Amino acid sequence: MDNFVKTEKLRGCLSGEILIPPDKSISHRSLILGSLVKGKIEINNLSLGEDCLSTLNILKSSGIKAEFISKRDLILDSSNGFIQPEAELDCGNSGTSVRLLSGLFSSLPYKVKFIGDKSLSMRPMKRIIEPLSKMGANIISNENKLPLEISGGNLKGITYYSPIPSAQVKSAILIAGLNASGTTRVYEKYLSRNHSEIMLKYLGASIVTGHDEKGYFTEIQKSVLVPKKIEISGDISSASFFMVAGAIVPHSKILIKDVNINPARTGILKIFDQIGANYKVLNKKTVSGEETGDILVEYKEDLKPFKIEGEIIPELIDEIPILAVLASIIKGRSVVSDAGDLRNKESDRIKTIVEAFKMLDIDIEEKSDGFIINGGKPINKEAVLETHLDHRLAMSYYILSLVNEKSMIIKDFNCTKTSFPEFLDIINSIKK
Ligand code: S3P
Repeated sequence: MDNFVKTEKLRGCLSGEILIPPDKSISHRSLILGSLVKGKIEINNLSLGEDCLSTLNILKSSGIKAEFISKRDLILDSSNGFIQPEAELDCGNSGTSVRLLSGLFSSLPYKVKFIGDKSLSMRPMKRIIEPLSKMGANIISNENKLPLEISGGNLKGITYYSPIPSAQVKSAILIAGLNASGTTRVYEKYLSRNHSEIMLKYLGASIVTGHDEKGYFTEIQKSVLVPKKIEISGDISSASFFMVAGAIVPHSKILIKDVNINPARTGILKIFDQIGANYKVLNKKTVSGEETGDILVEYKEDLKPFKIEGEIIPELIDEIPILAVLASIIKGRSVVSDAGDLRNKESDRIKTIVEAFKMLDIDIEEKSDGFIINGGKPINKEAVLETHLDHRLAMSYYILSLVNEKSMIIKDFNCTKTSFPEFLDIINSIKK
């Protein structure tokens, strides 16, 4: 068994100032929307996680030129437009790549085939096949899973009521709508992350957002995007591991600089309010249309349990694994419900978290749409934990290991590279 970590309880604390990786969702969008700008566009602080590199490689194999001018800054050049890609388009572990790029390729006059790794190949694609087919794309799938073969072009606008609040679904439709005839309107019951809408507006698309009796909507017309430098701030989903670590490891104090704090992503701050955590958001500013700030978190005793349900779910969907870790430390009953789509992430996150926590003797009860945790009992158990190629589970288990009296093995830890290749280096740099 290679590619695992053996953990140890942290006897000291976590203290210091850190920078976390650039936002993954915004990075994907900067590449995809950037490729639709006629000419050159500069992107600053791109995520170099494997997920975003999958998107970049697919665009490069489709005729878009990209040149890094420093480690995380690149110039994307679409002057010569797209070409028919020769090979299959490999999205690796990345759901965002396959779903958003399906929107793009549905609108282009080519035939492409998307493939992915074992985890991605098990994930549901009906959610994008249905609306993109309604717009006129021809899509062949393996029973609504990968591989997906798309023959695109000649799309027409539709009005679509998304059965799940999903930014990937919404974005796929909006990207397709950018090159469809007529108007494209997407509705969702709860507002999912709106980075596509913000970037489309920033790049000059004809787009309107609002809320009516049917829900939150976004409407887009065929548009030409204008080149404008895009700067990407830190990913709050990556910051969340350090926020929780700072809150639960005694005597810790962590300053996380330049984090994206778009209100559609900051559900975790609302949970930090609920539990009475000691945190502050400092130096707020707007960068390329997105709100950004520094987050300072300090350890506090006697945090209160929390309840997550309904409208807040899309605001913290990716943070639920690390919030489960938080719940296991807080004394009392924390509840997560209305989060059934967790079963469709990089792993079935409800099942995998429940299995892992039971191995650690944490009191957890599985529900179809979430779980209940009765936390606060000291963790004192050896375990070998599976990550199921799910980066967020790997990092959540690592944070849990900091307060486990006994050592654990976390298998396939390299999957953290999908979003956060520097995770261990950063955490080691603030161990005191
Ligand atoms: C993402 C949206 C979310 C999230 C994923 C990234 C995006 O998925 O879980 O990690 O960049 O649009 P859903 O939109 O499917 O909920």
